[in-house]
Amino acid sequence: MNDQKQLANFVQHMPKVELHLHIEGTLEPEMLLTFAQRNDIALPYKDIESTRAAYQFNDLQSFLDVYYLGTLVLREERDFYELAQAYLQRCKRLGIMHTEIFFDPQTHLSHGVALEVVIGGIHSALKEAECEWGISSAMILCFERDRDAESTVSLLHEALRIGDIVGIGLDSAELGNPPRKFQEVFQRAKTLGLHRVAHAGEEGPPEYIWEALDVLDVERIDHGVRCLEDPRLVQRLLRERIPLTVCPFSNVELKVFPNLKSHNMGNLLDAGLQVTINSDDPAYFGGYLNENIISTVNCLERDFNDVVLLQKNAIEASFCSRDEKIGMLARLERYIASFKFVI
Ligand code: ADE
Ligand code: ZN
Repeated sequence: MNDQKQLANFVQHMPKVELHLHIEGTLEPEMLLTFAQRNDIALPYKDIESTRAAYQFNDLQSFLDVYYLGTLVLREERDFYELAQAYLQRCKRLGIMHTEIFFDPQTHLSHGVALEVVIGGIHSALKEAECEWGISSAMILCFERDRDAESTVSLLHEALRIGDIVGIGLDSAELGNPPRKFQEVFQRAKTLGLHRVAHAGEEGPPEYIWEALDVLDVERIDHGVRCLEDPRLVQRLLRERIPLTVCPFSNVELKVFPNLKSHNMGNLLDAGLQVTINSDDPAYFGGYLNENIISTVNCLERDFNDVVLLQKNAIEASFCSRDEKIGMLARLERYIASFKFVI
């Protein structure tokens, strides 16, 4: 067996953790069209082929236009339930043992969909996956940085009243929307004992990563690939061991890098940063977690040690308890010990 095949085989069955996944970004064309018909929502796509053909992006904004259009079909609790259930079924097939899921409540509220409907649907699917397949998960409520920050604190309180939110995040159009606008809600989240993450340094400059750390006091940076432009920032990320949830397919599809070969994942690893690989919006970017890991590691000519390091980083960077992390590490170690390498 050649090395690439063996590495793919190793990744396929390795117990994994995913930390950067927008549940709305798992809406596959088949499901999009089914929900549109069921909820009587008119879309500009007539079939699966024309839907997939529309998934061509020049940058983050051109993607967000298509992504938010897709969210229009999510109306009822069962839509959110089925969406999350389909992703968790995939997690089972992909060997994902723990996943931390983002959702965008402001978008759904703007469509007239109540918060209970969104959280209730996702939460039921997560609990079911935990009971049936032992897949653990956490929900992270994302605020959209291109919207007003005004009602975010009350939205956060409302969400906490409804369900199991472990933390908050910041997503959507980065350029021209620096993190500081959301200082109040992030401060409140910290007071409430919630975890905090933010997309920064995806398209935006390193200054936005500084601001996410200094003003929002985040514990992880989502993407963060532009940190390498600022050596002082790299020193800070290293010193404080701030994890980066990098999404290689997303970065290529949104033209942050022209192709996978020119992705800076290898440089991030060589700098000693706590990087993890994730799928972001897999229905739109051509691959789920395993494909992201396998293609990136092969394309950048990295090896098994990097695959294991990336997974150990993800376990450490997760919002699981110390005991849960020890359990997941032990599961990973058992898998490595039992894997039959063919020489
Ligand atoms: N929302 C969904 N995917 C996103 C991304 N890659 N960046 C910012 N916001 C998003
Ligand atoms: Zn994202």
